[in-house]
Amino acid sequence: MTGGVGFVGGHIAEHLLKRGHRVVVYDIFNSETTPSAEKQETANILKSTAAEFEDKGSRLKIVNGDICDSTKLNAVVAEEEITACFHVAAMVDDRRSVLHPMEYIDVNIKGTATLLRILGEHGVKTVVQASTRSVFGQVLDNDSRIDENAQRLPINPYGATKVATDAFAHCYAHLLGIDVAIIRIFATYGPRGRHDMIPRICIDNIRRGTPIKKFGDGTATRTWIYIDDVVSAFVMAFQAIQRGKLKGYNQFNIGTEASTTLNEMIETAERVVGKKSGDSAAECAQRRCAHRGSSQMGEDSESSWMGSESDAGRGTEEDTRIQHGKR
Ligand SMILES: NC(=O)c1ccc[n+]([C@@H]2O[C@H](COP(=O)([O-])OP(=O)(O)OC[C@H]3O[C@@H](n4cnc5c(N)ncnc54)[C@H](O)[C@@H]3O)[C@@H](O)[C@H]2O)c1
Repeated sequence: MTGGVGFVGGHIAEHLLKRGHRVVVYDIFNSETTPSAEKQETANILKSTAAEFEDKGSRLKIVNGDICDSTKLNAVVAEEEITACFHVAAMVDDRRSVLHPMEYIDVNIKGTATLLRILGEHGVKTVVQASTRSVFGQVLDNDSRIDENAQRLPINPYGATKVATDAFAHCYAHLLGIDVAIIRIFATYGPRGRHDMIPRICIDNIRRGTPIKKFGDGTATRTWIYIDDVVSAFVMAFQAIQRGKLKGYNQFNIGTEASTTLNEMIETAERVVGKKSGDSAAECAQRRCAHRGSSQMGEDSESSWMGSESDAGRGTEEDTRIQHGKR
């Protein structure tokens, strides 16, 4: 499980451990989206889950490693006798990717290509790999349905790198005989959600009493899928490959048809926290010209919704620079 202490990976790992699987988490514990300390908390949750379900056969090993480190990857895949891989690790902050594109190219493209090649060479034939709705770019019409064959027109480096990682999965499925399922996730919410995503921003800001900056009147909509449904998609794809029902390269868009407005999201967060959010009317008026129903950099990508400049709860470029030494 690459990215196993991140938001999505942590939930998949927990699910697998509860069902008696042996899981090796491989993650660099970076601070891109969530402080490394919080990732350590996820690691602790996984350790206690493994202990609780030990009788069922659950075993957990956590490796602090980089998917770009081929020496370490080779050693882990061989020594741990890996039989299948959930590849969820990635650099994922779409707006930050505009400022630091090379980091996203290095980790997402080179890291994924390295990992897939090593897995294939070690005879690991089952891979379930995360992708994103950001590969499709902007869709201005709310009623359009985005299927797996929709045009790839990413509008930020993050989305572009994910087009490439999907392509590498296809390439190595072909060259090395790996059975791959791409799970293309749309914006996801749930416990331990990311700090850079709107649900967490709303909750954190209301708790702290910091006003939520809205870009526009809050009627812009997005679709949000619950983390457990995303986990189910990963597990179902894994089982289908194991049973021989999915062969070669496969891709699935995982989203929902239900849309939520920003105002509804804020109202829900207010109910959850039990407090009203700060008044942001002045901010709204000032920023109206910036509102296009969605942000410019990553309309439907996972982190953006309110605008592309500096949403409440997000830092400046300086603030969002990743902790030194912890890409
Ligand atoms: N959360 C969403 O709404 C959403 C939406 C679309 C796609 N996705 C995809 O789901 C996957 C997981 O995203 P997430 O939301 O859990 O993000 P996250 O930031 O919580 O998790 C990503 C994990 O990858 C790890 N990682 C980053 N670089 C690494 C490297 N070089 N080597 C090893 N590990 C590394 C990080 O430390 C982190 O724990 C990503 O592939 C992302 O593209 C997520």
